[in-house]
Amino acid sequence: MTSTTSQSQSETVAFGKKLSRSLKGGDILLLYGDLGAGKTTLVKGIAAGLGVKKAITSPTFALMNVYNLKNKNSKLKALVHIDTYRLKNEQELIDIGAEDYLGAPDAVCVIEWPEKIEGLLKGKKIKKITIEHKSKSERIIKTEKTISDKPYEPKI
Ligand SMILES: Nc1ncnc2c1ncn2[C@@H]1O[C@H](COP(=O)(O)OP(=O)(O)OP(=O)(O)O)[C@@H](O)[C@H]1O
Ligand SMILES: [Mg+2]
Repeated sequence: MTSTTSQSQSETVAFGKKLSRSLKGGDILLLYGDLGAGKTTLVKGIAAGLGVKKAITSPTFALMNVYNLKNKNSKLKALVHIDTYRLKNEQELIDIGAEDYLGAPDAVCVIEWPEKIEGLLKGKKIKKITIEHKSKSERIIKTEKTISDKPYEPKI
């Protein structure tokens, strides 16, 4: 596990940009953290790092936003941002086609409030990121890599 301290919103964005360089198609990032921890802020950095020009807003009501990537030299074709905060059940996400993206070789998925969709994540290769809210502007960002061949059993 690696741990980083962020002292500001812009440091979290910068961390996301740096993190984006290590992302590959098929990656699924689970973003844990309280309300206002900085999950969406981190996604903004990841998106910027992957070349997304559009402003990122969390898909609280849409549940899922798909950003098409136009990197000629990369197999990565989409950044998929899922926010389950208002999700009623897993079926709702299945209905909007999320399963086509989860683990797809040409997509990176980032998921806010992944606790709610454990069933959809079982057996997938995932990476957990936990953002701890320390003070008004200090956050601890913990990154843990879990490669699961076996069914994924979340412990958080
Ligand atoms: N070090 C920091 N890193 C990230 N955000 C910070 C930091 N310091 C202060 N903030 C502020 O905290 C808030 C984080 O909001 P953000 O929407 O990213 O959180 P979230 O975890 O996605 O919340 P939600 O669960 O509501 O989706 C922003 O208002 C941001 O300006
Ligand atoms: Mg958010």
